[in-house]
Amino acid sequence: MVKPRLLQIGRITDRMHDALAPHFDIDPLPDREAREPFLRENGPEYVAILTNGHLGVPEDVAVATPNLKVVSSYGVGYDAIDVEAFAARGIVVAHTPDVLSDEVANTFVMLWLAVSRELIPSDRHVRSGEWVRAGSYRLTRSVQNRRVGILGLGRIGRAIADRCAVFGADIHYHSRSRKDAPYTYHASAVELARAVEVLVAITPGGPGTRHLVNADVLDALGPDGLFFNLARGSVVDEAALVRALEAGRIAGAGLDVFEAEPKVPDALKAMDNVALTPHVASGTHETRQAMGDLVVENLRQWLEDGTVRTPVPE
Ligand code: DGY
Repeated sequence: MVKPRLLQIGRITDRMHDALAPHFDIDPLPDREAREPFLRENGPEYVAILTNGHLGVPEDVAVATPNLKVVSSYGVGYDAIDVEAFAARGIVVAHTPDVLSDEVANTFVMLWLAVSRELIPSDRHVRSGEWVRAGSYRLTRSVQNRRVGILGLGRIGRAIADRCAVFGADIHYHSRSRKDAPYTYHASAVELARAVEVLVAITPGGPGTRHLVNADVLDALGPDGLFFNLARGSVVDEAALVRALEAGRIAGAGLDVFEAEPKVPDALKAMDNVALTPHVASGTHETRQAMGDLVVENLRQWLEDGTVRTPVPE
């Protein structure tokens, strides 16, 4: 029996490959100069694409696959996929919400504690022998009883709120619309930033949220404020963030995402009051396996009845 052809963008685990190989003929998308002739020759045969939230479906691939029927993305964010254009072509797009919410929220807690308690410089204080030479490390800031602002109260935002409540936080948020939630709503990002000491961005990416966190928002957060980004690099004006940190207009930041990944501004790398992780908020064995299983389930369900378990929202 001829199996339907699946184009793989980015890496997948052996477990995902083994689960899909009985059902699909899987080809990885070649890179560089091999890509264009490959797509010209094979593009029309692909009915399915497996990709991830970061790589999405590039324009050249979308154009070269006129018979595409389904896209299954390994990740919750789908800003790198032109969902509207695909909907107009009748293409079903699936992503992996829910299974990563707890992990991403845990990563926020890790960054929050790391920045507030100065984990990185204090670790260096021990390793460099400074503890022996100069005595103990300076006192740091507690995460207890803070006013925390969540920019984007979706599934992950709510998981972050649950964790902040454990630390006695007074929780505020801004979303496109007011939610049924026991937290203080603010009508704009600036108003939210003005009301809190800790601001965390966890909105979807894409044009609607580009540079939502700009110099005005950072100034509203103020010189004692901490900023965290686990959303997309595009949500923050990174140059404005660097300037605010350099000038002490905010106190520190924890960043998992960047505007031009994997490039990170050298200025950020040089700052002790900044903790950096390489877009790995969901990056544990357990969560990535759950995400991979959902990617596979979406493709298998599509084979059975043309639907997916977790379609991207309309
Ligand atoms: C996601 O799930 O959207 C992650 O950020 C990976 O892109």
